[in-house]
Amino acid sequence: MPILKIKDLHVSVEGQPILKGVSLALEEGEIHALMGPNGSGKSTLAFALAGHPDYRVERGRVLLSGEDITHLPPDQRAKMGLFLAFQYPPEVEGVRLREFMRLACGDQGHGFCEFQEAYPKAVRRLSLEELADRELNVGFSGGEKKRAELLQAWLLRPRVALLDESDSGVDVDAVKVIARAIRELAEAGTTVLIITHYPRILEHVPPARVFVLQEGRIVQAGGPELARTIEAEGFKAVQR
Ligand SMILES: Nc1ncnc2c1ncn2[C@@H]1O[C@H](COP(=O)(O)OP(=O)(O)OP(=O)(O)O)[C@@H](O)[C@H]1O
Ligand SMILES: [Mg+2]
Repeated sequence: MPILKIKDLHVSVEGQPILKGVSLALEEGEIHALMGPNGSGKSTLAFALAGHPDYRVERGRVLLSGEDITHLPPDQRAKMGLFLAFQYPPEVEGVRLREFMRLACGDQGHGFCEFQEAYPKAVRRLSLEELADRELNVGFSGGEKKRAELLQAWLLRPRVALLDESDSGVDVDAVKVIARAIRELAEAGTTVLIITHYPRILEHVPPARVFVLQEGRIVQAGGPELARTIEAEGFKAVQR
């Protein structure tokens, strides 16, 4: 049974229809990829799944483990195990990364001692030792912000992780660090959706399925070779 099922999802932003009937299923424990040109609606889909109030569901349903979450507030979805790594992570002044993670992990039922042990390990895993006690994303470089997003997923162990361009603007070594974190997440049972423009990350974390979104609709689904076709020939190769 798919862990996340999206059925005929229509989403508008500021009265503008962006998603025009997206249907998609993520199989439990598998890694999936979502590709698509700029402005095709990838982040809109991610925000709508996370329950961002600006993204209005006009039609369709989203089921997480068979439960209808289409109109649940974001915090309830998060508590049910849905995680979103932002394409543009916000800077949160006055909130330290460590404190933020301690509270988030506590909310998910992780004990304090468990956190005290897991946090330094996660920080090392994501090569974020220097930033462990800094304010969340404040003054972080682009690549550091992406690794801090992965750190959150790695510690929270969500049921489903939506990773919105976690590899964009990231150097070659950091891509490997991020890829390893994604692999470990998946090995621990998290279902992953990697939103990306580049097959590079997918070489390190081979997806079971690749979906292509264009103009608010899924136009094609296939195996990892689809990512290579797009890299070689562009999105015109996968127009429907
Ligand atoms: N808050 C918003 N207000 C107005 N328009 C929006 C908003 N969010 C998204 N859009 C529009 O929706 C369309 C899809 O945007 P979205 O960010 O989902 O694309 P994307 O596929 O993630 O692109 P990219 O690859 O550049 O990240 C774009 O035309 C964008 O301008
Ligand atoms: Mg985007």
